[in-house]
Amino acid sequence: MGIQTIAVLTGGGDAPGMNAAVRAVTRAALHNGLRVLGIRRAYEGMTQGEFCELGPRDVGGIIQRGGTFLKTARFPQFAEPEVQRRALVQLKTHGAGALVAIGGDGTMRGALALHRLGFPVVGIPASIDNDVYGTDIAIGVDTALNTIIEAIDKLRDTASSHQRAFLVETMGRHCGHLALMSGIISGAEMTLVPERDVEPEEVAAAVREAYARGKTHAIVVVSEGAKYPAMKLKQRLDELKLDVDLRVTILGHVQRGGHPSAWDRLIAARFGVAAVERLLAGESGVMVGLRAREVVPVPLEESGSRQREPDMEFYRMGRMLAQ
Ligand code: F6P
Repeated sequence: MGIQTIAVLTGGGDAPGMNAAVRAVTRAALHNGLRVLGIRRAYEGMTQGEFCELGPRDVGGIIQRGGTFLKTARFPQFAEPEVQRRALVQLKTHGAGALVAIGGDGTMRGALALHRLGFPVVGIPASIDNDVYGTDIAIGVDTALNTIIEAIDKLRDTASSHQRAFLVETMGRHCGHLALMSGIISGAEMTLVPERDVEPEEVAAAVREAYARGKTHAIVVVSEGAKYPAMKLKQRLDELKLDVDLRVTILGHVQRGGHPSAWDRLIAARFGVAAVERLLAGESGVMVGLRAREVVPVPLEESGSRQREPDMEFYRMGRMLAQ
């Protein structure tokens, strides 16, 4: 007999769009005649039997909400085989036949462990850091970037009024994606990321040159995981006597909250439906991801003579999720 009940959890740091993904998983599964169980507080809740039945109304009114109504938890103990086995017993006791795990790299590691124990699992990437391997973008990244650039746009107003320089620290412990992208789209002078060490002297030179070119202010985006996070960098720049009024803004957990953007809601819907369909097709041990990295040349003979049509697959998806 095939899968009759699917469990769903959200793990690791919350990311805007997780609720939309749970909604999509739930509605897609119900549409296919399955029963759905939500697991509260991720793998920790799983080991403690925190399961709840999800019907179509339980996931109503959450598509636009940040955070995760299922709650989440950091649970490094899930790396221990004994804890994994306990979780497996809970899954079986509650009648779950498969799992959709929504979260970042730690959540995918947990999903892989359960798959290796023979339990059907499909992962959905969701983490503002965008450090999940195998997908160009995870749920939550776009919203976090919009939050960051909104903050930087505001800082720019006050920075230029006072002719100040700002060090703006973004999240991303091990991955510079948020800093790199926000640096580009906010017009920063310089961006510091964990993947490339930059010395304070180089930052000082870039800021001085920006003012020498006639700029009224300077923005330096610093990832929290960079060799010099914002406070440490400020200290060194002060020692270097930059001769510019320098301020620090650490954006912190603000980046994790807020209404999910249009893009995040859409990939949440797509990933949610795809995850359920993969499980129903008998797959396990996979994560659904999105790959569309390339900027490609398109002959004007084509784009100048035709119109793009909407992908009608989205019509099917819209009907499925409107329960
Ligand atoms: O992984 C997402 C993230 O927000 C990182 O960018 C950040 O370093 C970390 O989580 C913070 O974790 P916590 O909220 O558990 O302190």
